[in-house]
Amino acid sequence: MDSVTRRDFVRKSVAAGAAAVAPAAASQPAASSDGSVKIIAISCSPRKGQSTAGALGVCLQAAREVSPRIETELIELAGLRINGSVAAGIALAEGERDDFPTLVPKLADPKVRGIIIGTPVYFGNMSSLCRAFLERCIVLYQNKFTLHNKVAGVVAVGGTRNGGQEVTIQSVQISLFCQEMIVVGNGHPSPRLGATVWSGAPGGALKDEFGMGTTKGLGQRVAEVALRVAGVS
Ligand SMILES: Cc1cc2nc3c(=O)[nH]c(=O)nc-3n(C[C@H](O)[C@H](O)[C@H](O)COP(=O)(O)O)c2cc1C
Repeated sequence: MDSVTRRDFVRKSVAAGAAAVAPAAASQPAASSDGSVKIIAISCSPRKGQSTAGALGVCLQAAREVSPRIETELIELAGLRINGSVAAGIALAEGERDDFPTLVPKLADPKVRGIIIGTPVYFGNMSSLCRAFLERCIVLYQNKFTLHNKVAGVVAVGGTRNGGQEVTIQSVQISLFCQEMIVVGNGHPSPRLGATVWSGAPGGALKDEFGMGTTKGLGQRVAEVALRVAGVS
């Protein structure tokens, strides 16, 4: 694709969904009327209740400990049907189930000021479920830049200690930057890209001391920044 064609593509895809509308987040209230701020975590493992979901639970717990204003919800994509090709305009097959629309109200809720994406590491990258989910989120960009200025963080869970967690986090983060989200890492004591978890640790992911440190740090960081953006810190 040459540069002119690429510009045309971007212009057309934005015009198709967004028209000239102000960013949704800019018009959102600073916080909900009771001053609470919601953070949701999306587990992109096809295996329900496994290491990725467990790590996100720790991450959300750490977020709640930052302030009583923080509310959290864990959403597992396991068992949901999300066809990434729909993002490119490919129609569903007749009778094909599509669960992505059920997620849109949760993602678009103005009270949701932080979104944490958790994915297993598959061959040094995100799961296909995670990729399909992120691709489908283009509709949120096309429709009033819905995720603009929401805070984002990433948890990557691999079966080995250095199994590609960091490169996986970066791969997810690119989509989040494209959504104009405020992407944060795991903060001190060892600020890095995000939560890097080893599910093969003796006793499992929740016993991975280093990984859990990064996971808690990420939850705290997303909460701190979400409160600041909402103007209630
Ligand atoms: C297709 C596939 C590829 C994988 N590739 C990697 C990898 O590159 N690096 C790694 O550390 N673990 C890899 N794993 C292991 C998973 O990341 C690990 O089992 C993780 O805990 C799965 O998350 P879950 O327990 O939430 O389902 C792979 C697993 C599968 C099924």
